[in-house]
Amino acid sequence: MDLESEAGIAAVLAGYAAAGAEWIARSDGLSPDEIYQSVADLLPVHAARILDLGAATGRDAAWLVRKGHRVTAVEPVANLRQAGQRLHPEAGIDWIDDRLPMLERMGPKVFDCVLANGVLHHLDAVAQERAVARMAGLLAPGGLLIAALRHGAGPKDRPVWPVDVAALVAVAQASGLDLTRLVETGSIQPQNQDLGVTWTWLALRRAAPQVRHL
Ligand SMILES: C[S@@+](CC[C@H](N)C(=O)[O-])C[C@H]1O[C@@H](n2cnc3c(N)ncnc32)[C@H](O)[C@@H]1O
Repeated sequence: MDLESEAGIAAVLAGYAAAGAEWIARSDGLSPDEIYQSVADLLPVHAARILDLGAATGRDAAWLVRKGHRVTAVEPVANLRQAGQRLHPEAGIDWIDDRLPMLERMGPKVFDCVLANGVLHHLDAVAQERAVARMAGLLAPGGLLIAALRHGAGPKDRPVWPVDVAALVAVAQASGLDLTRLVETGSIQPQNQDLGVTWTWLALRRAAPQVRHL
């Protein structure tokens, strides 16, 4: 990966490493039911292999485990992983220390659903496109990629980059995914509402092979 992307990612992760108890409590206390309302009907109904990228404290991972799914949570910041293990010890979440865009430690795994909620804006444009191609490659046939893309300013110590929705959809489509849903929403967090933050929710699916009945 190029040095500019690397430096940007390092700055973001240093910012999250400095996140204190207040940020952790606020992030972990948000309601996944409220957050995922734009795509809730698309989430797997039966037990599925789900990958949560940029999982922070595992709030969403624990929610999905409670629904009967097997969840791998990727979080590169040690204090957030440790907070997640403390806050959700019962959840049976499989934690991995890895990072987008390349996810070099993932190995040859595939998932029925991949989530990237509020993480791609922390990568520059080159790394965002690489991340989308990498995530597409982790989907089993019929698998679903859900990405929540944040637009707007962020705290100075956690750099953000613009997200070109059309460019990322094009990369996903070139990687074999079909666009299932695109929804624009506001933020549920008052401090982000004050900043004018908006979100684009994308759902993209890898086609399942046709079953031929003889
Ligand atoms: C805004 S928080 C979102 C957390 C959670 N997904 C949510 O929806 O609340 C961004 C998370 O992405 C993680 N992150 C930042 N850069 C990352 C990267 N390059 N790869 C993986 N995770 C990253 C941060 O450490 C943080 O936990």
